[in-house]
Amino acid sequence: MREPLPTSIADSDDETSTLTTFDQVVRARLSRRRALLGGLGTFILAACREDKGPATPPPTPKPDSGEALPEAGTDAGADAAPDASPDTSPKPAALGFSSVGKSLADALVIPAGYTATVLYRLGDPIADSVPDYKNDGTDSGDSHALRAGDHHDGMHYFGLGANGKLDWSASERALLVLNHEALTPHYLHPTGQTIVGADAGNYAMRAVADEVVKEMNVQGVSVIEIAKISGVWSYKKNSAFNRRITTSTPMDLAGPVAKTPYMITKYSPDGSSTRGTVNNCANGYTPWGTYLTCEENWAGYFRRIEPDTARTTKEIASFKRYAITGTGRELWATATPDTDDNLFGRWNATKLGTSDDGSDDYRNAANTFGWVVEIDPFNSSARPKKRTALGRLAHEGCWIGPVTPGKPLVFYMGCDGRNEYIYKFVSAKVWDAADAGGGLAVGDKYLDEGTLYVAKFEADGTGKWLELKFGSGNITPDFAYYAFADQADVLLNTRFAADAAGGTKMDRPEWGAVNPKNGEIYFTLTNTNTSRPVTSVDAANPRFYNDPKGDAGTVQKGNPNGHIIRFAETGGDHTGASFSWDIYLFGSRSSADPTNVNLSSLNDTNDFSSPDGCWFSHATPGLLWIETDDGAYTDVTNCMLLGAVPGSVGDGTKRTVANSDTVQVPVDAGTIETDAGPMPIDAGTMPVTTSKSVDTYVGKAPGDMYLRRFLVGPRECELTGVAESPDGKALFVNIQHPGEETIPMFDMPTTYGSHWPDGGAARPRSATIVITKDDGGIVGT
Ligand code: FEO
Ligand code: CA
Ligand code: CA
Repeated sequence: MREPLPTSIADSDDETSTLTTFDQVVRARLSRRRALLGGLGTFILAACREDKGPATPPPTPKPDSGEALPEAGTDAGADAAPDASPDTSPKPAALGFSSVGKSLADALVIPAGYTATVLYRLGDPIADSVPDYKNDGTDSGDSHALRAGDHHDGMHYFGLGANGKLDWSASERALLVLNHEALTPHYLHPTGQTIVGADAGNYAMRAVADEVVKEMNVQGVSVIEIAKISGVWSYKKNSAFNRRITTSTPMDLAGPVAKTPYMITKYSPDGSSTRGTVNNCANGYTPWGTYLTCEENWAGYFRRIEPDTARTTKEIASFKRYAITGTGRELWATATPDTDDNLFGRWNATKLGTSDDGSDDYRNAANTFGWVVEIDPFNSSARPKKRTALGRLAHEGCWIGPVTPGKPLVFYMGCDGRNEYIYKFVSAKVWDAADAGGGLAVGDKYLDEGTLYVAKFEADGTGKWLELKFGSGNITPDFAYYAFADQADVLLNTRFAADAAGGTKMDRPEWGAVNPKNGEIYFTLTNTNTSRPVTSVDAANPRFYNDPKGDAGTVQKGNPNGHIIRFAETGGDHTGASFSWDIYLFGSRSSADPTNVNLSSLNDTNDFSSPDGCWFSHATPGLLWIETDDGAYTDVTNCMLLGAVPGSVGDGTKRTVANSDTVQVPVDAGTIETDAGPMPIDAGTMPVTTSKSVDTYVGKAPGDMYLRRFLVGPRECELTGVAESPDGKALFVNIQHPGEETIPMFDMPTTYGSHWPDGGAARPRSATIVITKDDGGIVGT
């Protein structure tokens, strides 16, 4: 049968990729680029490798008994011990930069007094043996195993001491670790993906194996050494620390689901390992100095073309709950001939073998994805570990709560899908400060055993953490939608477990962030559509409205602009079972209805849509960075980065939000009763309006003082990933997929959706940028 060509967008569950018209593509660029394109060469490393003892403990969120925030520009937190002592530093009076305007230019827009430098672009080599990137699609697939990947996403700064080890206070030398979530296929190859056979009822296939190798290599994770030399940041091309983890890197399975029958593949008949990580979205870090990369839209990469009768009832239910079906995003499994080690065939989750246990095919391969993956940036020979105790989701990221000696560690996570959930994991072991900086082996202690919970947001502003435990409540073999067999099954099918427990379905949970001032947890809920109808609004997801887009007034119904929810664990106990919550901020056009849509009273200086990345500064506790990944407000502005200084849960008011949805429903010819008596009607449609009002809790409106637009990105990009040097003087952010939405004519560069960052007629490239203040001060203050 015929199938459509695969599309590639940042999130496979996002709205459709929009084809920009030729006229739009060639319109004048609106302002010149501000990015400085220097700093891309090799620098000489002067530091010696002398061991100066154990690493300084990491900066960690620290609960505060009060609401005071530190004075902007202090470096509190950089050397902070992982304990719960209150941070008494004063609150900043305001954000210390002028808001930038909205922009549709193919350029970075940043405030006066700041400089943005491009640090690490798609294709940049990370070894001396690799030639410079030609950026015309002809660079080999294999070479990309030692180049910057595509679609830079979540990111963390690990300070690198003079002894070559972790130093949380090192502000001018570091290992920068970042995810490469996906790829923009138009620009990776000379003329896009080579796909054949999609005719005469046949399945489409990839015709050029090297293209597939390239695509498998541009996803995963980068570890790069960076340094500030003579005031300029660059990455060290020939550092021994540089490393790429790709979709083919061998890695171990750890925790309760490892070595179970669910994980048996031809590659690993004992279920102990798998190859690679994919669609690495957001991230996290640990106090023992490792990086957590999170597998988000992994399900779509697997090919599964078989009748349902070929699999068990449970397998079919699980495949459907995670959307593992169809020909496979990017069609990787179709490259021929396959290699001896099934480099391509491993993406085929169809049952092809004759074994009972799956040891002769890859029918279970999708079970080895969907996890939080732990990587040791300081040990390039350490195999990454997939931590199955944290559940199998469309993992956005994994953010640690306050770290307190003698208390369990807590990690907060979101599952990015419409009507999915927010989770937390509480370790079984309590934190021992002696483990700080201990590397990957420490992860076995804290991440392989613990309790997983799903969040339930109650209408009264309180909430509960519901344990996901086999045999508890509805999480039993008798659950109507999935017959759980054991705890490994619960972790493998976490979405079903959350359904069974009765968690609250949210408007697409993206990033989380923990406020170091008071321990409150923030989650962006990026947006949703009519998949969450007006009848399903609730206190925590309270809006349903139309956001007409552009001159045509294109209908965008649901919660197209998203919101940011936050919660405070009861008594400050992050291991506990209850919390209170409110909605810190609602995305909206500033011009939208102030009563039911623009509930945070956004204005022209700070209005935004579709919050996604977020990060609380440690250098300036209380300062929150918010990034957008938007398709709703893009008639007015490209995606952006905002700076914010939030208050705390309960600082606003209770509000009633009135929602309604009018749809045309078909009617047959006949008569209807009206006040004036029976009235004949013709066959056709008639409008039917459904309304639902809901009470919610709206955080104090930030105003200009506490929410400002800091950066607007180039065309068709997403702002994502944010990290900072411990002194707060360097802010690293990622510009993902500029120009992604426009299908170009390859011989006509004027049709490219973007030329950022290289300019001229260049193909666009995802890139990490570093932002510094021209006076050498703290970014954002
Ligand atoms: Fe990869 Fe949900 O963003
Ligand atoms: Ca995201
Ligand atoms: Ca997103």
